[in-house]
Amino acid sequence: MNDFSFSMPTKVVFGRGMTDHTGSELASRGFKHALVVYGKGSVVRTGTLDRVLASLDAAGVAHTEFGGAQPNPSLAHARGGVEVARASGADVVLAVGGGSVIDTAKGIALGVPYQGDLWDLYTHAAEPVAEGKLPVACVLTIPAAGSEASASSVLTNEETHLKKGLSSELNRPVISVLDPELTFTLPAYQTAAGVTDMCAHILERFFSTSGPVPVTDQLDCGLIRAIISEAGRVMEDPECYDARANLMWAGTLAHNDLAGCGRGANGGRAGGWESHGMEHELSAHDPKVAHGAGLAVVMPAWMRYVWQSNPERFLTLGAGVFDIEPVDVVEDCIDATPEEAVEDAILATIDELQAFFCSIGMPRTLGELGFTADDIPAFLETLEQNKGAEFGQLQRLTMDDARAIYESCL
Ligand code: NZQ
Ligand code: ZN
Repeated sequence: MNDFSFSMPTKVVFGRGMTDHTGSELASRGFKHALVVYGKGSVVRTGTLDRVLASLDAAGVAHTEFGGAQPNPSLAHARGGVEVARASGADVVLAVGGGSVIDTAKGIALGVPYQGDLWDLYTHAAEPVAEGKLPVACVLTIPAAGSEASASSVLTNEETHLKKGLSSELNRPVISVLDPELTFTLPAYQTAAGVTDMCAHILERFFSTSGPVPVTDQLDCGLIRAIISEAGRVMEDPECYDARANLMWAGTLAHNDLAGCGRGANGGRAGGWESHGMEHELSAHDPKVAHGAGLAVVMPAWMRYVWQSNPERFLTLGAGVFDIEPVDVVEDCIDATPEEAVEDAILATIDELQAFFCSIGMPRTLGELGFTADDIPAFLETLEQNKGAEFGQLQRLTMDDARAIYESCL
């Protein structure tokens, strides 16, 4: 097991009706004025925003609203939010929404004390500073990105089609309100994209080059098993509170770094995040592509491309999640080599995972996302800008490898 440091500074307030406690939670921390960030209107239509504002009023917390964050949120919008935050005198940024809203809030919070262009922080031309940075709190409305407890914020520069993540411990929210009833209104497609994303957050960490870490490995496999079964229940009954609640908590655990403890090198985050890197190019080029849907296409293709670099990891996943083991070719008198049995088990594991994503409504191909072979050169161009000529951990990938993976998704 590798050395690691794990810190979960976010206070999670979880349960039915907790939305109405948002104001008292903020007030108990001494916050007096919240910049309330939200998205394209779902929280207005569902009444969630009104409930949050009412709870702020009841707790004596002033507020300024800043709506309009789009899915795959834009840098330009966050820049605007920095101006609004400064003018408002807010002492906390409260996101009411999903990952796109929370990431916008995180960008605004970091941007307030920085006198240069916000994008500098995402390109690492400048480092974020704690002094003057606003704390972030959130009321989560979709279990997916895990931003409610993660150290990341992801924004897209729409002028350059570059989607970049900024990882900093400063990004972790101080309070996250997780009220599973808010997710009853999610369209099935968004629920499924969120489920895929949380599986991917676990798998990116699981597929690091470190040797077995049984506690973390079994935690990961157990989480994915639970996500698969709870997703099935939600798809049958979108208002099943327990299933929604389990998915919500799984989404947080998938990405608060617990799922990678002991698997990261040099104390860093576990895994090479290859699929996320390749997906971000899809949703950067077409923001209508849901991040999770892009992952459903890219991740199985990446797995089929690299599994031979580390068959053991794939066998552990197959056994831990799907009860798939290689057949014993001698005992079962099978006309195959042991190597062929291993390959069959691994490919069956990847097929099962992809079949699960498809069963909940996720796409299998780039074509289903509206892309053709003609789009691949543009993905590769920005991928190289983001990742350099080679990237990845389980297997180093060149741009030719990335092209082959994208082409296998057509
Ligand atoms: O914009 P509104 O109208 O609010 O609608 C949203 C949006 O259309 C809707 N929605 C959210 N909650 C709802 C709801 N509709 C009905 N009822 C509800 N309760 O769902 C749509 C998707 O929302 P979004 O916030 O975009 O989803 P998600 O949480 O998947 O966030 C995706 C973004 O997070 C980034 C992704 O790249 C993408 O930009 N990620 C952020 C990470 C992080 N900060 O740690 C890690 C992830 O790997 C990911 O990269
Ligand atoms: Zn993700």
